[in-house]
Amino acid sequence: DIPRYVKIVEVGPRDGLQNEKTIVPTSVKVKLIRKLVSCGLPVVEATSFVSPKWVPQLADAKDVMDAVKNLEGVRLPVLTPNLKGFEAAVAAGAKEVAVFASASESFSKSNINCSIEESLARYRAVTSAAKKLSIPVRGYVSCVVGCPVEGFISPSKVAYVAKELHNMGCFEISLGDTIGVATPGTVLPMLEAVMAVVPVEKLAVHFHDTYGQSLPNILLSLQMGISTVDSSVSGLGGCPYARGASGNVATEDVVYMLNGLGVKTNIDMDKLLSAGEYINQYLGRQSGSKTAVALSRI
Ligand code: HMG
Ligand code: MG
Repeated sequence: DIPRYVKIVEVGPRDGLQNEKTIVPTSVKVKLIRKLVSCGLPVVEATSFVSPKWVPQLADAKDVMDAVKNLEGVRLPVLTPNLKGFEAAVAAGAKEVAVFASASESFSKSNINCSIEESLARYRAVTSAAKKLSIPVRGYVSCVVGCPVEGFISPSKVAYVAKELHNMGCFEISLGDTIGVATPGTVLPMLEAVMAVVPVEKLAVHFHDTYGQSLPNILLSLQMGISTVDSSVSGLGGCPYARGASGNVATEDVVYMLNGLGVKTNIDMDKLLSAGEYINQYLGRQSGSKTAVALSRI
């Protein structure tokens, strides 16, 4: 049975834009977020409070947050890699944050410059500080089936990291196929392992579309009971520390499939297309969404 309602977590302004080489002006980021909020998306990941040396594109996190923090009817989480980022996020008005661990040692090192265990210790500090302020924390696990350096990642490693994030109080765990190598064949055993240790209601899936496998992977995840899906308008994205990774699955494509399945999302497709057009026009590029391309022809 497929869930009747699916919550879409729009990650375009963060996961999408973080990978853009040329700095996008703060005003464009803010307008994109506003447009995405107007689509009825319940969650729009706004930016990251990470080191500007590591991700120069998101160095304006404070200004972005300042401009969007009072938008109503939407949750606007931000990424925080440590207590320093958490404190800056809260000072800027963030009401929800996300921490990001990896199931791959090598990727942990290249993305956040520490081991998996060190990252979990940092995140315990973040979740305990957040608990005192009643700030919900989402936990990401990246490289859930494959890593650019290590190749195949075992489902038991993913389950271990997911369980640790759940134990420290993350309200939701998003399972990220950071480099987009997953197929339903590898997603199935990974989800089985994670679902044995974290309740399925707390899980989200986060696919990148490198091999065009995101939609079948999402369909399988829904069939296994997952009802939260991350996606990025127009398929923006990639990861600066995962060479060769392409963008996230496009939100338009996910909404089109969910509409076809009769699953409720409360998302306005026309407004979503307009948000996608806006950012593509700014970036001077074609949409990465097949649905957006098809609908723009009719
Ligand atoms: P480090 O160099 O080991 O940090 O970076 P450090 O603690 O040694 O500090 C070095 C400098 O950074 C210091 O400044 C700190 O103050 C500063 P300096 O004295 O040199 O002037 N610093 C900070 N500045 C601002 N905000 C902060 C912060 N922390 C330290 N929060 C660190 C470690 C974790 C900070 C760094 O590696 C980092 O920021 N990494 C983030 C990388 C990133 O954002 N990657 C992309 C997101 S993850 C992803 O895409 C996967 C996901 O989408 C899921 C999926 O697809 O699977 C979530
Ligand atoms: Mg990602």
